[in-house]
Amino acid sequence: MRILKKQCFCQSLQYLLLVFVTYAIWAAARWRWKDYKLSVRSAKHKSRSRTTPVFSTDKPYDSTVTSVEAVLAYQQKWVGFPELASVKCPAAFSKSGKNAMFAQHVTRVPVKKYLSDSSDCRRFRKVHGFERYPKVSREELAFPIAFILLFNKDFDQVVFLLRAIYRPHNVYCLTVDSKADQDLLQGARALARCVPNVFVASRLERIVYAGFSRLKADINCMGDLLQHPVQWRYVINMPGQQFPLRTNQEMVKILQQYNGTNDIEGITGRRMLPNRFLYKHVYETNPQTGEITITRTSEKLQGPPHGFVVVKGSAYGTFSRPFVAFVLVDKRARDLLKWCEQVKSPDEYFWATLHHSKTVPVPGAYTAGKPDDKPWLTVYASWGGMDPCATIRRRSVCIFSPEDLPGLLARREIFANKFYISHYPTALHCLDQMLYNLTISGRSRDISYYKHFPFIKNS
Ligand SMILES: *[C@@H]1O[C@H](CO)[C@@H](O)[C@H](O)[C@H]1NC(C)=O
Ligand SMILES: *[C@@H]1O[C@H](CO)[C@@H](O)[C@H](O)[C@H]1NC(C)=O
Repeated sequence: MRILKKQCFCQSLQYLLLVFVTYAIWAAARWRWKDYKLSVRSAKHKSRSRTTPVFSTDKPYDSTVTSVEAVLAYQQKWVGFPELASVKCPAAFSKSGKNAMFAQHVTRVPVKKYLSDSSDCRRFRKVHGFERYPKVSREELAFPIAFILLFNKDFDQVVFLLRAIYRPHNVYCLTVDSKADQDLLQGARALARCVPNVFVASRLERIVYAGFSRLKADINCMGDLLQHPVQWRYVINMPGQQFPLRTNQEMVKILQQYNGTNDIEGITGRRMLPNRFLYKHVYETNPQTGEITITRTSEKLQGPPHGFVVVKGSAYGTFSRPFVAFVLVDKRARDLLKWCEQVKSPDEYFWATLHHSKTVPVPGAYTAGKPDDKPWLTVYASWGGMDPCATIRRRSVCIFSPEDLPGLLARREIFANKFYISHYPTALHCLDQMLYNLTISGRSRDISYYKHFPFIKNS
């Protein structure tokens, strides 16, 4: 009797073990299968971006995401900086978050690392997170955006920015100061080789501070972009230290509201710094260092051609495709560009002057009221004397840190400038995480604010 019981017990134990092992094999296989499905999907995505899977946009947004894609992206550390994976970003976004709670440094990635990784482009795209968004909405597919990135240092930060705004159906022109490190240019070429629809400008400029070449670099990219097969609707230019505050889907919804008008800043009156365009400027080369600087002469510069009235603005903006085409081919725009060669910081006059022209009909221009009175939403920078800044400023512009995040979240602009990867990188880390979570959840925030602006209706 006792023996029989023992046998019986043994058998049921064996049976249990068998069930357990079978279950484990089944679960493991299922897990692999999920992984496999995901990689097949992203491989398909690469080769045929037109048939990319599409998500619906009416799911409720939750700040934490749990989809298979998101779990994988967080596991692989494709969101934020790998080193900061343990940072609690919701705390950084709350008003009680303090800079002292967050990392001040991340290990910098040298350009050489990207160069060696780029020997295998498939792997490059994967390990650097350029495939972290396996889906894109139909609305976004139908509305490609072009971006111009100008930089002269901190390549790892540029890659971080590019990854944040990268979607395979958009297009990206990289432009590098031709006198910067050769490494930097090679890094840009590696990105262009490995990441679809990213290219290096066909002509690089030797950038002189406050000089014409800075403007020319953008114009070169715009020329290349018009030739590119992607039929982008708007182009947004930016420096490498900028970072988005909106997802690609939100950008598309906002730009659709713009309905073909540009978003270009306009400043008139006392803040115009008129000496920069009332006198001719020349370039001088320091014979010792070879450095080129721009200096003012005492000779007066005639007003701009074709009755243009000078307006000041930012070097950065959101430009519609017809506007860009106009800039590149219209005789009057070309003449204004020529006039700009003798102006100091011409990038702060050329776009604004065109955009607010009341004499020459410029596509997407604003002619209704005072340039200063309309909003400008391309990029938020916190200027000394006007706006808050938790830590330091450079050339009176705030370098953002985590304590600036609650303020940044309340902004309406599409981008914010500046961030330094070497100054509280948690700020970049958490913004990237927020945008990633929003994007992967498929939902965009309320954009009703962007409807019915005077600069859209009255242009
Ligand atoms: C994003 O989602 C992850 C995963 O659920 C979560 O840990 C993180 O706190 C979220 N971050 C933000 C900024 O919402
Ligand atoms: C958008 O622009 C088109 C053509 O420029 C115009 O006919 C239309 O009324 C505009 N739509 C809105 C909502 O302003």
